[in-house]
Amino acid sequence: MPDHNTEASGGQEPLLELSNVSKHFGGVLALKDVSFSLFPGEIHGLVGENGAGKSTMMKIIAGVHHEFDGTMKIKGREVRLRSAGDALANSIGMVHQELSIVPDLTVAENVFLGTQPLTSIGTVDWAKMNREAKKLIASLGLDIDPTTTMGSLPVGLQQLVELSRVLFSGAQIIILDEPTSALSPPEVKQLFDVLRRLRSEGRSIIFISHFLDDVVAISDRVTVFRNGQKVITEDTVNLTKDSIISHMIGRGSKGMHMGEDAELKGDDQKPVVLSVEGVSDGRSLRDFSIDLRAGEITGVYGFMGSGQIELARALFGKLPLRRGGLKLDGKPVKFRSTAAARKAGIAFVPENRRMMLFRTEPVFKNVSIAILDRIHRLLVKPAAEKKITEAHIKDLQIRPPRTGIALGSLSGGNQQKVALAKWLTHLPRVLILAEPTRGMDVGAKEDVIRIVKSLRDKGVAILVLSTEPETILTLADRVTVIKKGTVAREFSTGHIEKADLLAAA
Ligand SMILES: Nc1ncnc2c1ncn2[C@@H]1O[C@H](COP(=O)(O)OP(=O)(O)OP(=O)(O)O)[C@@H](O)[C@H]1O
Ligand SMILES: [Mg+2]
Repeated sequence: MPDHNTEASGGQEPLLELSNVSKHFGGVLALKDVSFSLFPGEIHGLVGENGAGKSTMMKIIAGVHHEFDGTMKIKGREVRLRSAGDALANSIGMVHQELSIVPDLTVAENVFLGTQPLTSIGTVDWAKMNREAKKLIASLGLDIDPTTTMGSLPVGLQQLVELSRVLFSGAQIIILDEPTSALSPPEVKQLFDVLRRLRSEGRSIIFISHFLDDVVAISDRVTVFRNGQKVITEDTVNLTKDSIISHMIGRGSKGMHMGEDAELKGDDQKPVVLSVEGVSDGRSLRDFSIDLRAGEITGVYGFMGSGQIELARALFGKLPLRRGGLKLDGKPVKFRSTAAARKAGIAFVPENRRMMLFRTEPVFKNVSIAILDRIHRLLVKPAAEKKITEAHIKDLQIRPPRTGIALGSLSGGNQQKVALAKWLTHLPRVLILAEPTRGMDVGAKEDVIRIVKSLRDKGVAILVLSTEPETILTLADRVTVIKKGTVAREFSTGHIEKADLLAAA
């Protein structure tokens, strides 16, 4: 495979060099024989599908994982970093994909976590800390009171504060793992200005993102990972978004697999049950519209942070809207809670199923909870509950097939089936599913797909929100691609492929 590492160096010595790095997690081979280099004053984009190994490699560089095969060199000297502190001592700073802020502390305390300036008598110099924090944050073009509690800020601002901590730490190697997922377009621009400034100071940045437009815009070189392996490193000028996508998914190599393409069957004759009309919250959603039709599965595909979570929240009145609203059967509606939405026939199975299920309660309780008022309004009859549940367990192949065991002892996939099962008897008009098959084995996935499709065939209008193209392509009759809170593209009929979704997002 082509590798242009050495060409792009212009004879320079790499600041950081990994050679033949492999990393196992138990039986999972997360990285396989990966080599990677970073030069001084370079912004290096790193892309690949979910699970490709990007974060794993960054965590090796940042001292989080130190058990691995292969070598890592900084300025030609072999090192093995054993902690984040070790990494910092080697001038490596990383902003992790998962925010690591402390919500109860102030913005300034978060910025200076562990490195608070002290007074001459050894106490924290609050005045100085707040002053310095304000200056750092202002460098990102933000005007935030440093004494504000971190947890009270919107996620995008939290992300920026976290970025400011690493960006201005003086680190020579700065790793940003998905830094823009919660940022608005103007904030991304601010961040890019800062990155270019740091580059001009000779600092090196590794920039991981699913937003390929951003990667192409900011990077000097791009490395693509696929299934734990490096596919290519190339100067960005020689790449396009489409060629990057081809490298990411290995298109053309071996035909289509399950979930890599789909024949869409959107039918405009089917009645619209719920429509979302031009909703904006001033931040995460911008003039977003979608129609959910009876007997159809509508997929909404987008990257993490593209506004899917906010869309789900908007449907349940949990996101204050500046503009736009919902219509149910053509009439404007506003739900003030999930309970109110459920009354109107709108059911929601969130990605974090634990929120909706009662893990310590037996399986049958969890299934019958949606239909309790039909079994008996006041007096719950365990016998009736069990009977209904047993029928479902058989139908859904829930393993083990016992109604009495605690839900928490089932595997994630089987818990998801239980979460769906409760809607089978009590058909909702609209069913909203967030990441319905994430992290499931093939068998459980197939069962869930079957259940969702049978609900559709019973006339339910279904909305599937997912960051996985395969999930969308396996389930959806029509697809809307959401990008930075707005409709990027709609596909309703005909053949589409994974690459079409990635290109639109
Ligand atoms: N701590 C861990 N324990 C076990 N398996 C892990 C661990 N961290 C990562 N993995 C596995 O290693 C593989 C690579 O994961 P990694 O997080 O590096 O992917 P990624 O490219 O960062 O994906 P994403 O774009 O979703 O962030 C995946 O199969 C993942 O499940
Ligand atoms: Mg990752």
